[in-house]
Amino acid sequence: MAIEAVRGDITVERVDAVVNAANTSLLGGAGVDGAIHAAAGPELLEYCRGLGGCAVGEAKLTPGFELPARWIIHTVGPKWRGGQEGEPDLLASCYRESLARADEAGAESVAFPSISTGIYGYPVAQAAPVAVRTVQITSTNVRLVRFVCFDDKTFDTYRLELQSNQRT
Ligand code: APR
Repeated sequence: MAIEAVRGDITVERVDAVVNAANTSLLGGAGVDGAIHAAAGPELLEYCRGLGGCAVGEAKLTPGFELPARWIIHTVGPKWRGGQEGEPDLLASCYRESLARADEAGAESVAFPSISTGIYGYPVAQAAPVAVRTVQITSTNVRLVRFVCFDDKTFDTYRLELQSNQRT
């Protein structure tokens, strides 16, 4: 499996599946959730209404509608509460469950945003190692994982995490 980090906007990624950092309602929001719903179009919201929400750490699959990506995997990251309330395990579960939905869909390339490190306040320096490590150790048929970072700080953090991991 190839794992890479790029700087960019996940809504234009030409991969089989993009991951959305959603909330438990799955009915849209701000951040990457808002961008994905805006780019995918109103059919996405209609489809999500039928899903009954999503628990923190879980992931649900929808079509990509007007996105270049064929699928969207909606996952709900933990809100940062200081790091002693199971946040790392819940964040790891988001990546693991998202790869499981990708496998179920037959997706071979998956783009992730930096889950929980925006509105949910998870420090990116603590989230990136969890994200990279979980993707590295999860058994999956996915051939390419791309971390799509929306700002320089996030990009530098994931890029350096991948470099240090690949050196070991
Ligand atoms: N492409 C890639 N990454 C993006 C994009 C985009 N178009 N827009 C924002 N991001 C980045 C943010 O800069 C941050 O690094 O996604 C990362 C996750 O931030 P949020 O979108 O705020 O997601 P999160 O921290 O998981 O909070 C989820 O925010 O939008 C609401 O409905 C959502 O309630 C949920 C909460």
